[in-house]
Amino acid sequence: MPEIPPQKPPEAPTRVALVGFGTVGRAVAKILCQHTDGLLRLTHICNRNFERKKQSWVPSDVVWTDDFQQVIGSDAEIVIELIGGLSPAGQLVRAALSAGKSVVTANKQLIARHGPELLALARANGCQLEYGASVAGGVPVLPALRTGLCGDRLHGIAGILNGTCNYILSRIEADRVPFSEALEEAQARGYAEADASEDLDGGDARAKLCVLALAGLHARVSADDIHARTIRAIDAVDFDYAAELGCTIRQISRADLKGSTLFADVGPSLVPASSPFGRVQRNLNLVLTSGQYGGDVAFLGAGAGGDPTAVAVVSDLMFVAEGLSGGSRAQRTTHLASPVVSSDFETPWYLRFWVKDQPGIIAGLASILSAHQLNIDAVLQKPGFEKSALPFVITLEPCRDSQLQPALHEMSGLPFALRQALCLPILR
Ligand SMILES: NC(=O)c1ccc[n+]([C@@H]2O[C@H](COP(=O)([O-])OP(=O)(O)OC[C@H]3O[C@@H](n4cnc5c(N)ncnc54)[C@H](OP(=O)(O)O)[C@@H]3O)[C@@H](O)[C@H]2O)c1
Repeated sequence: MPEIPPQKPPEAPTRVALVGFGTVGRAVAKILCQHTDGLLRLTHICNRNFERKKQSWVPSDVVWTDDFQQVIGSDAEIVIELIGGLSPAGQLVRAALSAGKSVVTANKQLIARHGPELLALARANGCQLEYGASVAGGVPVLPALRTGLCGDRLHGIAGILNGTCNYILSRIEADRVPFSEALEEAQARGYAEADASEDLDGGDARAKLCVLALAGLHARVSADDIHARTIRAIDAVDFDYAAELGCTIRQISRADLKGSTLFADVGPSLVPASSPFGRVQRNLNLVLTSGQYGGDVAFLGAGAGGDPTAVAVVSDLMFVAEGLSGGSRAQRTTHLASPVVSSDFETPWYLRFWVKDQPGIIAGLASILSAHQLNIDAVLQKPGFEKSALPFVITLEPCRDSQLQPALHEMSGLPFALRQALCLPILR
């Protein structure tokens, strides 16, 4: 007869150690110290130079330390990783899982890069790795993928995943302020870092898309394989043209699984103004999932912030703790596919040109488009601009990105082109 491991009494709280006492860690500790109905007990808080972090509201029996090893060697059953980044967070998570401790983390970089390997390590050690707070902080989309939607076969996930980009784009939309002014405002309000490149150029969103693809589409993809386009080229005038088409502009991250190919990209896109994406304002997040049986489901809420993210972390803790009390420690095994990643979506396109006015512009552009078998849907030109720098728009019928790019390259060499054309997919 195999030996049955001793179970802790169901009424005993699960011991948890917190590593990283920053914006989210502090908010998690507050909830754990104030209210978890006796299910969880905070035993350790680990942070470098912890003396300056100590708080009077933390019970005196909580051990403060700056030593990861003390946490790994302790009797804590769950380790919460909230320091962020790949290192030393990765080493900490591996050491905790190897020691048989479950881990809860909000670290999207770590899961995007090492998620499949860490999930396998958790399984091998009979413990759990939960990362529900790593995407769309306060929106419970990842737990929904794990529970409420796991009976469906999801084939598509699309989202507004970066609050900074959405804040900037919805500010330009509301008051037609220049891009630089909207960015400065986002920085002044603390929504954007001094170096906002990760947000603006799509790096943050594509890491989140990888995590969603892992959890919802069971696809192992690398963030580097997902094409990302910047929002820096968006002008106020693009919102005028988008409005003429019944649309607005949002940074959209999307992944569609078709056979063994994952079509995925991140970047500014035209979306109908009346659609769920078009209506998302400020720094909110929205995720839409598409399933074979259940159809579309939408999740909307605060994407970031200490308190909303802490709620997601504590919810994960309670989920793991309930499993521990019930004696079921094993993580469900899910087969992960390794699809080819492509950004070659077939879609209608919005092309915005800045040109020096002269005869023959439309004819010049049209002949290049026709040589590449690309069909024009509409030509839009707003009055009131100087002839020396004139914006106008061509929309195209659906075609593949790979078909369009050579034509764009040729167009950028035309003598009247003042800037490279802005090229956005139109999502209907
Ligand atoms: N903030 C949000 O709204 C949000 C939303 C979703 C997900 N997340 C994720 O949550 C995690 C934490 O984010 P946060 O905003 O709370 O970050 P944060 O405010 O920078 O907090 C990180 C904490 O970890 C400590 N730390 C960093 N490196 C350490 C090390 N090597 N050893 C010990 N302690 C270390 C820092 O100490 P110091 O004080 O000395 O720097 C700080 O107290 C990240 O993975 C982030 O991506 C955050």
